[in-house]
Amino acid sequence: MKSLPWWKEAVIYQIYPRSFFDSNGDGEGDLPGITSKLNYVQQLGVDAIWLSPFYTSPNKDGGYDVADPRNVDPRFGSLEDAKELISSAHQLKLKVIADIVPNHFSDQHEWFQAALLAGPGSPERARFHFHDANPDGTPPNNWISLFGGPSWTRVDDGQYYLHLFDSSQPDLNWDNADVHEDFEKTLRFWLDLGVDGFRIDVAHGLVKENVLEHHHDPQSLSNALRLDYPMEPEERNELLLSVPYFDRQGVHEIYRKWRKIFDSYGDREIMAVAEAWVHPPINATKYVRADELHQVFNFDLLTAPFDAAYLFEVINRSIELNSTVDALPTWALSNHDSPRVASRIGDDQSRALAFFVLALPGSNYIFAGQELGLPDGELSDHDRQDPSFIRSNGLIKGRDGARVPLPWSGDISPFGFTTGKPWLPLSQSWKNFTVEHENSDPHSLLNLFRSALSIRRKHLLESQQIEWIESPSHGARGGSILAFKRAAITVVMNLSGEGMDVEFPGEVLFASSGPVQVNVSKKHVPARSCIWISN
Ligand code: NOJ
Repeated sequence: MKSLPWWKEAVIYQIYPRSFFDSNGDGEGDLPGITSKLNYVQQLGVDAIWLSPFYTSPNKDGGYDVADPRNVDPRFGSLEDAKELISSAHQLKLKVIADIVPNHFSDQHEWFQAALLAGPGSPERARFHFHDANPDGTPPNNWISLFGGPSWTRVDDGQYYLHLFDSSQPDLNWDNADVHEDFEKTLRFWLDLGVDGFRIDVAHGLVKENVLEHHHDPQSLSNALRLDYPMEPEERNELLLSVPYFDRQGVHEIYRKWRKIFDSYGDREIMAVAEAWVHPPINATKYVRADELHQVFNFDLLTAPFDAAYLFEVINRSIELNSTVDALPTWALSNHDSPRVASRIGDDQSRALAFFVLALPGSNYIFAGQELGLPDGELSDHDRQDPSFIRSNGLIKGRDGARVPLPWSGDISPFGFTTGKPWLPLSQSWKNFTVEHENSDPHSLLNLFRSALSIRRKHLLESQQIEWIESPSHGARGGSILAFKRAAITVVMNLSGEGMDVEFPGEVLFASSGPVQVNVSKKHVPARSCIWISN
């Protein structure tokens, strides 16, 4: 049997470089800091790391405002440090996925600076979306930035430029050949340096149509597009169907070209994962057709309630939709843009769900710190740096809570993350979440993750199919148990607030709530927990 490409069932650990580990005492994580902790990552049992951006950037949006995509920002180190990180990871058999940000540049990028100087109608401006103001001086249309405020900013000569995000992130014009060429150069640059793949930021946004048309409810649309904005799923879905600037047909042409570049690296099995939050959900599968990208993020679980019927539906849907293009789904419970899962749905619930989805077919993305059970950081408004906080005048709290640095050791904040002052404060209450503390506790979440990842690798990967045993529609327990069988393992999650006994043959290998019972015919599944049973 031919083995699967490495990424198909990979567990990928997302590192937010600024918050991982600080090697030089300046209060911010950096590339040498990551390199020095790769053993920890490898011992977790993951297959790859995905690094959020570390490129030259004024850092107005956590590095997603790139001023030079082929260089490293001094706050993170140097190109030499990037090479060192990649080669150390490879020695440990960890693949490296870099982030690429093709929807926009930073306003500090030399192209944008040249566009400002060159003036209306110039080839320099044609690389971005510059348009004249309306006769009354208002912006060309009423779109609202995903970070709040208008999507257009006026420059000195009266023209406006489009920015779906911060005003420091001018959108690129993908009708322009220079843009295509430059990104192809960037892809090859990092591939030649050794990276194994890319996470493509705002992958569905590159191609714009009708940039001069108005939207009927731009404010609600902008809210619906933010993962940290609570909204009824029905309302959100309705609004998402009306996004005028995402998911245009033209993006697929770009990825077909990129795929040829990836494939030209032959047996290195280069992969790319799209950040493409599109509606209706079937549209996501277009990004993973055989001649396009390899994976597309599935954001359902970042906002899903801990509810059996809801989870059953979104999990099933993802598996089924992906199967129509012969792809496997991806799963993520947290990332740098959303509240941490432990804070969002609760501690026990987040553990149960993490181990439930780790057993599903496809790739799992784990946001660094999730393996420790970290909640969101407790921040005062004074600490916040997210542009959405700044642009909304504090109305939107933003994403800083999920980006607080990791606690490594000791009893006192900043828990070994830095010898300086951390860029965001680590709460003193995180004493029991440090790597050091959890290492020493055999039943810590960290050690449970290690066990689960090892069992997953040994026993689950031989099959890419699951068979539901209990679902809310045919479950006997009022819809509070979800269970499926994959390969030789039965996975059972009890979503209710009371422990339950279930009768499945076999031995309990693993339980999200801690110590396991071995080999009893009736298995006790504690409240809000997940167990894995070997058949
Ligand atoms: C998605 C990234 O994950 C987010 O952090 C960033 O702010 C936006 N794209 C804009 O690049």
